[in-house]
Amino acid sequence: MRFFKTVLICVVLIVPTLSFAFTFSDQEREQIRALGAWPQPFVKDESNSFSGQPEAVAFGKLLFETGDLSINRDQGCSFCHQAEKNFTDGLTKGEGMERVDRNTISLLDVRLRHWYGWSGQSDTLWGASIRPLLDPREMGMTPELVKERIVANEEFSAAYQNVVGKAARTEEPADLLVNVGKALASFQEGLNSQPTAFDRFREALLAGDQQAVEAYPKDAQRGLRLFLGKANCVRCHDGPNFALDEFHSIALPDIEAPIDLGREAGLAVLAENPWVKSGQYSGKSNAGPDRHSAHETLKAFRVPSLRGLSKTGPYMHDGRFETLLETVSHYSDFSEADLPKTGEKILEPLGLTHRQIDQLVAFLMTLSD
Ligand code: HEC
Ligand code: HEC
Repeated sequence: MRFFKTVLICVVLIVPTLSFAFTFSDQEREQIRALGAWPQPFVKDESNSFSGQPEAVAFGKLLFETGDLSINRDQGCSFCHQAEKNFTDGLTKGEGMERVDRNTISLLDVRLRHWYGWSGQSDTLWGASIRPLLDPREMGMTPELVKERIVANEEFSAAYQNVVGKAARTEEPADLLVNVGKALASFQEGLNSQPTAFDRFREALLAGDQQAVEAYPKDAQRGLRLFLGKANCVRCHDGPNFALDEFHSIALPDIEAPIDLGREAGLAVLAENPWVKSGQYSGKSNAGPDRHSAHETLKAFRVPSLRGLSKTGPYMHDGRFETLLETVSHYSDFSEADLPKTGEKILEPLGLTHRQIDQLVAFLMTLSD
């Protein structure tokens, strides 16, 4: 017993002072390779004819920051999507004219998504930018009123003419609304998160630069190993953006009525949505068929990116978790009764130790700059 105690004390005292090199297996290195590179190159959105045009980006920025596109002139995109909070609002659920039913999503790296909104109610960024304008709880406008406000503002109407090549006052409201959405989307395509400690580690590891690898905190390395292995977070949070754009239920218990049906409801909205890739307002050379989730849809939500989380709490579609610690703990100890009854069974409670949960959180923190 005494011997073991001595060994234990030695281990506790000595091990942290040794910089023991962590070695990742070939398989882990390939998994890590798939989590980059960062940033991702700009790819023009073929469904948006203004995508990548500097004049449209500048017009979109004006529209994003104004209060004039809300019915009472006291709401705007940037009121809920605040730059200093990585384009979220710090609230459990967004608050416009009224409280909405979901947590505000970060707009960083939004150009990399295939689906928009927690339930993928839209498959274009410009369509997702039109939605809040018309939602009575958010900005409460109509297409006619959007036109009126653009026409009445000299700076807006000059910018409109410059981007679209037509005078705003001669436009059909429905067409003008789409152009406003596309300018807003062009601006948001430029909201990119910066390379992080994880990206520097990844580059160093792949280049064999051991000294730079050592600069990455050991706890984050352990967390990363869990993320790729035992905890298998990478099953859903994969790729450079840490999100395969699929929909899953992660066994969050119902906490309030009415229950948010998630993807099930999103698909119903999508079917009626005029602002989709395959719709009449889309640029025609759009990129192939839509991708569809092969998994359960009821109470399933889009897998969110894990970049930039340090400033985007509370977490989940309904903002139910204040901290990353609570969020990661959920995966450790949820109730299997809350798993979806149909579809592929992916999750099981991980039963992690406190230390392992801390390591996962340490890893997640290195995905923020
Ligand atoms: C009242 C607060 C609020 C306002 C105002 C608001 N948003 Fe949002 N935004 C949200 C919420 C909440 C969501 C998630 C909605 C959902 O999933 O149902 C969201 C989602 C989005 C998304 C989807 C992001 C993704 O990754 O899927 C985009 C794009 C977006 N908003 C752009 C805008 C633009 C552009 C404006 C201004 C025209 C705007 N928002 C105004 C709260 C707001
Ligand atoms: C089955 C797919 C799946 C797996 C595996 C998975 N997640 Fe998630 N994750 C999701 C989905 C879906 C959401 C959004 C759920 C919601 O809001 O209803 C989410 C949300 C999150 C969030 C909140 C992000 C935000 O912006 O609100 C974090 C953090 C997170 N996951 C981390 C992890 C970690 C760490 C692991 C491994 C322990 C993991 N996830 C495993 C699908 C998954």
